[in-house]
Amino acid sequence: MAKASATVFFCRECGYESTKWLGQCPACHQWNTMTEAPKAASGGTPSRMARSTGRLGMQAPVRLDEIGEGEETRQKTGFEELDVVLGGGIVPASLILVGGDPGIGKSTILLQLCRNISEAGRSVLYVSGEESLKQIRMRAARLGTFGANIRFLSETGLDRISELLTEEKPEVVVIDSVQTMYQEEVSGAPGSITQVREATMTLLRIAKNFGITIFIVGHVTKEGTVAGPRMLEHIVDTVLYFEGDRNASYRIIRSAKNRFGSTNEVGVFEMTGKGLQEVKNPSAFLLEGRPEGAPGSIVTCTMEGSRPLLLELQALVCKTSFGMPRRTSAGIDYNRVNLLMAVLEKRMMLHVNDCDAYMNVAGGMRVNEPALDLAIIMALVSSYKDRPLPDDTLVIGEVGLAGEVRAVRMAERRVAEAVRMGFTRCILPAGNLPAARSVSASGEGGAVKLIGVRTAAEAIACL
Ligand code: TYD
Ligand code: MG
Repeated sequence: MAKASATVFFCRECGYESTKWLGQCPACHQWNTMTEAPKAASGGTPSRMARSTGRLGMQAPVRLDEIGEGEETRQKTGFEELDVVLGGGIVPASLILVGGDPGIGKSTILLQLCRNISEAGRSVLYVSGEESLKQIRMRAARLGTFGANIRFLSETGLDRISELLTEEKPEVVVIDSVQTMYQEEVSGAPGSITQVREATMTLLRIAKNFGITIFIVGHVTKEGTVAGPRMLEHIVDTVLYFEGDRNASYRIIRSAKNRFGSTNEVGVFEMTGKGLQEVKNPSAFLLEGRPEGAPGSIVTCTMEGSRPLLLELQALVCKTSFGMPRRTSAGIDYNRVNLLMAVLEKRMMLHVNDCDAYMNVAGGMRVNEPALDLAIIMALVSSYKDRPLPDDTLVIGEVGLAGEVRAVRMAERRVAEAVRMGFTRCILPAGNLPAARSVSASGEGGAVKLIGVRTAAEAIACL
């Protein structure tokens, strides 16, 4: 009989397991992500799971009508923005992964969430493997007062934590972060793929068997020295990702997976001196400080999930002083900008080939949607010709290689948002006119003039 090898190879990105090393992961097609790790004691088989969670009772199979109905009542987080992302609140006994870059605000929002939940009379345990109790206290001091329902623990031993959870059964638990958790009987250092995976499996068992809602924090790392949260996505119920520019104060929480709600909903927050605060009107927030009558500045509307967000695109186009034109773009795909400049050169006879071009999304947002094409083109031409577009005009539309303007999805929502924000003119694809007309007729914020265009050249004529 062949001797079983003592190590296996895992993909750091998605957790794909293989007995031999591979250059490219067959599951997620990433290169150089396979790492060798000692084989788990028995790879998450029932015997091992039973040991790690101790005295869990076995459940007998039941019929559907034997399952109580009231279990789906959702708990509010105290943040409307977060409730929306979660699909209406927290489903009890769910396992929720909160991922994001270090320092983005994961610990902060979870601490605030714990505070809100504990104030609603629920017992909460906040376990930190990264910070000492003193450090937690310092952070908490910035966020307000904490009542008696919330308790803190600084601990990395998961065996001790699971014992505590099964004894005390708090309603909500935060594990910050899964990469610091350690189990004696699992091989590998904290943060290794086996440790992180086993820790998540253990927490899943506890959540389901004892009806405890567990939030786990997972840092996203590019270097891959610790296992990424992406490989945990299939274990947990819900995955929330924290995004945002560290230099900008806004933060976006997006659900990448949700067993109990739709994905791609976003919540917008702002990092303040007193923790994270909800941004109820993100469009106003993103348009703040917009220059008036400035050439190269165009307002457009992007969809984040089902939510429209107005934002300002800025372009600066000037004759290049050296042979090689310089092009940069922040917040938008650089290649898309280059492609649209080629469309300008070829289809509209605008000689931008020997121009430097700089594009920027104001506020540090990152967007990648074809519906912004026309706004990118308008910003470029507006700067090139030094002619501004009136401040109350919104531009949406996808541009094809022939310079034609194509219809975008959810045009009526975008126009409605523009109306709400007081815009009075909207340049949009002619194909979207019928849908948009229904909005402009019934819009609350007054009438909006719709200018339907078929080609990018028609839109540029509005400058
Ligand atoms: P943190 O929640 O520790 O990030 P993570 O857990 O994702 O690593 O966020 C830390 C950052 O947030 C740090 O740069 C300080 C800043 N911060 C504020 O600006 N205001 C606050 O009230 C708090 C608590 C933190
Ligand atoms: Mg943290």
